[in-house]
Amino acid sequence: MDTRLKRAPGIYLTGFMGSGKTTVAQALADRLGWDFVDLDAEIEAQEQACIAQIFDTRGEAEFRRIETAMIQRWRDRIERCIPTVIALGGGSFVQPGNLELLQNHGFSVWLDCPLETIERRIETQADTRPLARDRENFRRLYEDRRKAYSRADFRVDADCSVERAVDLIMALPFWK
Ligand code: S3P
Repeated sequence: MDTRLKRAPGIYLTGFMGSGKTTVAQALADRLGWDFVDLDAEIEAQEQACIAQIFDTRGEAEFRRIETAMIQRWRDRIERCIPTVIALGGGSFVQPGNLELLQNHGFSVWLDCPLETIERRIETQADTRPLARDRENFRRLYEDRRKAYSRADFRVDADCSVERAVDLIMALPFWK
C-alpha cells in the first residue's frame, strides 16, 4: 500500500448525483474491512432533517457550511489512522476549499458516469435530491462540474455494476 495511504487511510468517492458513490463506497468498505461513511447520511443524522428539508428551510449556503464541517470531522478521524471509505455528496468536491481539505489525506476517486445512466438511475428519487428537481439545471450542473471532479486523484468509469466499480478501484495504483 502507498505510504501516503498508510499514513492517512482514506478513500473519498466523488462524482455527480446518481453516479453510485454510496453503494460503491459501501461495497468497497466491505471488501476492504474498512469503515464506511456516507456524508449526506451523517449530515441528516446530525441535523435531524433530510437533505431536502435543510435546503428548503435553511438554504443551500447553510447546507454547504454543514457539509464542509462534516468533511473536516471525518478527515480528522482518518488522520488518526482509522481506515475509512467516504461517499461524498455530489457537490462536496465542487465547493471551494473542500478539495484542499482532503488532498494529501488519502485518495479521491471520481466515479464518472454518463448523464443518460444517471438520469435513468435517479428517475424515481428526484424529491430526495433538491438539485435534481429542475432537469435543465441538473444537466447544466452535470457539465459544469466535470472539471471539478477531474481534480480527483483518480477517475474510474462507473457505468457498470457495483462489483465492477469496486474491482476498478481495487486495481488503482495506490494499493501497491
Ligand atoms: C448534491 C448532491 C447530493 C446532496 C445534496 C447536494 C449536489 O448528494 O449532497 O442534495 O450538490 O450535487 P448525492 O450526490 O449523494 O446525491
